[in-house]
Amino acid sequence: MFSQKQIFAAPLAGITDRPFRRIVRQFAPDAPMVTEMISCHSIVGAHKNCLRNFDRYDDEGAVGAQIFGANVKLMAEAAKILEGQGARWIDINMGCPVPKVATRAGAGAFLMRDHVLAGKIMDAVVRAVKIPVSIKTRLGWDEEHKDWRDLINIAADSGVKFAALHGRTRAQLYVGPAVLPDVTDAPIPIIANGDIKNADDVERVLNMGFAGAMVGRGLLGQPWIISQMCGMDVPVNVAAVALQHLEYALEYYGEKTAVPMFRKHAAWYSAGMKNSSEFRIRVNQITDAETLKVAIREFWDYHC
Ligand SMILES: Cc1cc2nc3c(=O)[nH]c(=O)nc-3n(C[C@H](O)[C@H](O)[C@H](O)COP(=O)(O)O)c2cc1C
Repeated sequence: MFSQKQIFAAPLAGITDRPFRRIVRQFAPDAPMVTEMISCHSIVGAHKNCLRNFDRYDDEGAVGAQIFGANVKLMAEAAKILEGQGARWIDINMGCPVPKVATRAGAGAFLMRDHVLAGKIMDAVVRAVKIPVSIKTRLGWDEEHKDWRDLINIAADSGVKFAALHGRTRAQLYVGPAVLPDVTDAPIPIIANGDIKNADDVERVLNMGFAGAMVGRGLLGQPWIISQMCGMDVPVNVAAVALQHLEYALEYYGEKTAVPMFRKHAAWYSAGMKNSSEFRIRVNQITDAETLKVAIREFWDYHC
């Protein structure tokens, strides 16, 4: 059997915020988790102008802060700031396919097309911090350019400690099955990502030579999934978990932001259950925390 330390919670923008990480952490105290991607421009700009309170990661255990951007100097500065906030490692996004990141900003997956720039960013970030640096990337830009090996070799030369590899190309976005390649001759440990849904999937990729597995969408509505993958028999009361998650969100964002933000989580927690579409419609109209709590309690018939 494998340990929680080998199963990473993937970065998911708009999802793996601090409240979500807190609820995952409750079930998997040792699992490494990656934050949502944060733009180097927003980190450095906001930090200089003292515009916002950054998350501190000290009390969160093994959390890697993920940065994205195409500006070498700002990426290094951003990494340093997040190291100061207590991140255990820095992850560089080299796989995000959305046009805002990969096309307009020349960042994320675009770095798979510009290995020279990717190398400069990795060199600068590794030099800027004392904590480990990782990258998260894909097989390549498209079917004709599956050159992840070249990027991993550059990463290793730059001093990057490990990489997460999503078994799709940029062109595939999130569609079709993830296909993971042979990584046995990779110069750094590789974490398998894409469609990891259960313990069998983890076992399969570990047997293939991957150093670990990274779970993304499998966490939605199931923040306990990593502990289950590790063979722990977690008694799950979904209503209690959803209410606890909501409390964390309220504490972090305040009611006005947390309630609408929580709608998607309520939908994921209830997915596949009887009357879940009525529940979703009801929740989507709720704007205050007390009514949302009542709706959750009623849906699961949970009255503690
Ligand atoms: C809604 C959503 C948001 C994502 N946000 C990020 C992100 O911020 N950074 C990143 O590197 N990948 C991001 N990804 C990609 C995931 O981390 C992961 O690579 C992908 O979902 C495949 O893994 P899965 O099949 O386990 O979901 C995101 C994916 C989704 C669906």
